[in-house]
Amino acid sequence: MTGAESLTTVRLTLRRFTSDDLDWLAELYGDSDVTRHLGGVKSRAQTQDFLNARVLNYYNEHPGLGIWKTVDRDTGIPVGFHLLNHIRGESIIQVGYVLAKPAWGKGYASEMAEAVLGYGFRELRLPRIAAMTSKHNHASQRVLQKIGLERRGERAFPHPDYAAEGQMAWFEREAAAWLSAHGPAGT
Ligand SMILES: CC(C)(COP(=O)(O)OP(=O)(O)OC[C@H]1O[C@@H](n2cnc3c(N)ncnc32)[C@H](O)[C@@H]1OP(=O)(O)O)[C@@H](O)C(=O)NCCC(=O)NCCS
Repeated sequence: MTGAESLTTVRLTLRRFTSDDLDWLAELYGDSDVTRHLGGVKSRAQTQDFLNARVLNYYNEHPGLGIWKTVDRDTGIPVGFHLLNHIRGESIIQVGYVLAKPAWGKGYASEMAEAVLGYGFRELRLPRIAAMTSKHNHASQRVLQKIGLERRGERAFPHPDYAAEGQMAWFEREAAAWLSAHGPAGT
């Protein structure tokens, strides 16, 4: 198994977060456009808690899964992050992404999310991968559709991070169906 940290696409690669990424992450979560569908901006202290609990500690608790910084291969500049992790409070594994504003509209979210799905199905042998997004986040819904997930109505989750959002657009796909469309070994 090569692990997500070595995943590359034509333009992007993933890197493991470290505690040195707090400034960058706080700037990303401080942008009200980026966080419009993510429950609003996070303070630096909230971002620190997120980095510790949901990113750094999670790597050890769930090897192979996590949230990784998405980096431009040519310049080394971070463009955002991609994730393959548990929906909070659930056993369901989700794919997701958040990009800094200058990186929007270039196909980056889809490019790496498809690679992350391939990693989840082929290397981790996950039977199913899900995703959820705000009913109003049409760009994100389009990304999920492009990478081969299916819209399956709406779902709500009780964890406080999601509860305020209520019903969210729900997507998922089983391994066999995704792999038959994308190839068992990838390209
Ligand atoms: C949503 C987000 C990830 C999209 O990233 P991106 O790299 O621009 O996405 P891509 O370029 O891969 O694909 C976006 C698709 O949505 C389409 N799109 C963009 N805005 C849209 C809108 N308002 N309505 C419908 N479709 C839209 C694009 O045309 C594109 O589809 P296409 O390739 O068929 O033309 C990015 O804007 C972002 O990080 N936003 C803030 C955080 C966020 O909302 N993350 C998702 C949480 S679930």
